[in-house]
Parts: sequence; C-alpha cells; structure tokens
Amino acid sequence: MDQLEQLVSQAVADFETVSDANSLEQAKARYLGKSGSLTELLKGLGKMEPEARKEAGAAINRAKATVEQALEARREALRKSQLAEQLAAEALDVTLPGRGNGNGGLHPVTRVLERIEMLFAGIGFSVADGPEIESDWYNFTALNTPENHPARSMHDTFYLEDAPGVLLRTHTSPVQVRYMHQHVERYKDAATMPDIRIIAPGRVYRVDYDATHSPMFHQIEGLWVGERVSFADLKGVIADFLRRFFETDALQVRFRPSFFPFTEPSAEIDFAFMSGPNKGKWLEIAGCGVVHPKVLRHGGIDPERYTGFAFGMGLDRLTMLRYGVDDLRLFFENDLRFLSQFR
Ligand code: DAH
Repeated sequence: MDQLEQLVSQAVADFETVSDANSLEQAKARYLGKSGSLTELLKGLGKMEPEARKEAGAAINRAKATVEQALEARREALRKSQLAEQLAAEALDVTLPGRGNGNGGLHPVTRVLERIEMLFAGIGFSVADGPEIESDWYNFTALNTPENHPARSMHDTFYLEDAPGVLLRTHTSPVQVRYMHQHVERYKDAATMPDIRIIAPGRVYRVDYDATHSPMFHQIEGLWVGERVSFADLKGVIADFLRRFFETDALQVRFRPSFFPFTEPSAEIDFAFMSGPNKGKWLEIAGCGVVHPKVLRHGGIDPERYTGFAFGMGLDRLTMLRYGVDDLRLFFENDLRFLSQFR
C-alpha cells in the first residue's frame, strides 16, 4: 500500500520540520485529527468488502501507530530542547564575585572634623554648638559689631525674608556668646567659675561661590576663657594643634596683626610646611585674638576678672590641605567617584 507508506513518511517529515509544540500539534491534526488523512482512511473502511477491510484496517492501524510514535518522540525532543534553552537563558555564573552593597564612609570634612575634635579633647576642650539660623544680635551685635558698623559689610550675609533680625550665621563666632550665657547660668551659684574651653564646629553661610568659596562652608570656633588666659596660651594651643593635626614638627607658625571687632588684639594665623610640595608657602588658616571685653560683658562675664582667647578656623580649608584637594566645590557635589576615595 504505497499511499499509506507515503502518508507515514510525509507525517514523520512534517513532525521533524516543526520547531515548537504548537506547530507540532497542528501537524498532528493534519494526520490524526477529526478530518486528518489517516482518520479519513479509517472512515473509508466501512465501504470495503469484509476481506479487504480486514487487511486494510490492520495496515492503517500500523501506520497510525507509527505516526503516533513519531509524534510522541518529536514531542519529547521539543520538550527537551525547550528546557535546555530555558536553562541556558537563566544561567547564573555562581563563580562571579558578588556585587555587594559597598560600605559607606564618612565624608572627608567629617573625618577631619572628628580628628580635630579628638585633638582638642586631648587638651580639655569640649564641643559646643549653636543654631545656623541666627539672630542679628548674636551674629553681630554681641560680637561688638553694632548696626551700621563697617565690619558688617565684611560678610555677605544671607538675610531671611519676612523675618527681621534673623539671618544665616556668617561665622561660628556667635556660639561664643551663646555658650558664655549657658556657662554663666550653669555656674552662677559656684564660688569659682570653671574655665570655658570649647570648640564649636558647624556650617556657616555667605553669598560667595568659586573654587575656594562656597555659599555654605564649615568653621571651627575655639574659645578659652579663664582667670589668666593670655595671647601666649593662644599661640601655644594653635602651634601645638597644627603640629599634631599635620603630624609634623617641621612647621612654622606666624601670627600676623589683623582686625576683628570681637578681639583685641587680633591676628591672622599663617603656617608653612618646612618640607613637602607646599614647602615655604605661607598658608592662612584662622583668625584669632584676645576676646574683646565688650564680648565678655555681652556673655555675662566680668572682663575685669576674666580674659580669654578665641579663634575661627576654616574646616574645609584644613581638609583640603590634609588631603591635597584643590577645589573646595568637590566637597559639596556628592560625586561618589571623589567621595569613595576617602572610605
Ligand atoms: N569669625 C571670623 C570670620 O569668620 C573668624 C574669627 C576671627 C573668629 C577671630 C574668631 C576670632 O574667634 O577671634 O571671619
């Protein structure tokens, strides 16, 4: 029965050419479906003579079994290759190193601040702070800079709209008088008032922006008030601090006469490395001086009995010098490529 053999090989060939389960089921329908060619042949048996029908029926059933076998084999093959494909697509290379979450780190300015706090803690200074939104009185008047005083124009101040007498502090010096008030209040019943010895680090604000100025930057105020505190103590504290901060004794420090309304005398502190890339270059690092009697009085402290010194350092500048960073703006752009170097 030639026709039957042809049908079988045609079916097997059709099954082989399909590449997915859907097409395979469609091909199956062409042969074994309700009106598939093999099904039609079986239907035709009824019209045959009993003898011929017997023979033909057996042959068609054998052909049908062969086609069914081929179908089942192809189904299995497609299932396997689909699984293999899926496994390949979902492959995980477990030998790759993990991505991890990365460890965060402290900002370089914070690191330097913590170091400075530690160095000053070593000589008995504690840390104080005050508000960044400050009153005109604490920021200027209490620091011997009355209204219309020309020294106010030294600072390009951010004032708050609709809030007269309120501003963003232009320096950390207002913490001096704030702290004096707290200290006097705390020890008012004591026979002797202990010395005030604080540093006050924090953010300050000025209208200014270039490679060495940012509208927000950091200062560290220092204040030591006691019964016999002098300019000589100031020199010792600063020189010692700079040597410990930069971890070298090969450092020169000079005090250059200057003016600040809240100190008298006042000076600018410069230092120079005696070796390294910055060798011999005077670098300005802080303003300082002996606390003006009017400032002590504003803080409730008797200037006849007590004296003190104060200084204000640029924290960002110290950080730049410590790490050799030459653009201040890098500290405030939050670029992880820069920041992660300090982890
Ligand atoms: N507050 C000053 C400024 O920002 C810096 C300063 C100078 C602070 C002298 C002081 C000081 O405590 O005694 O320019």
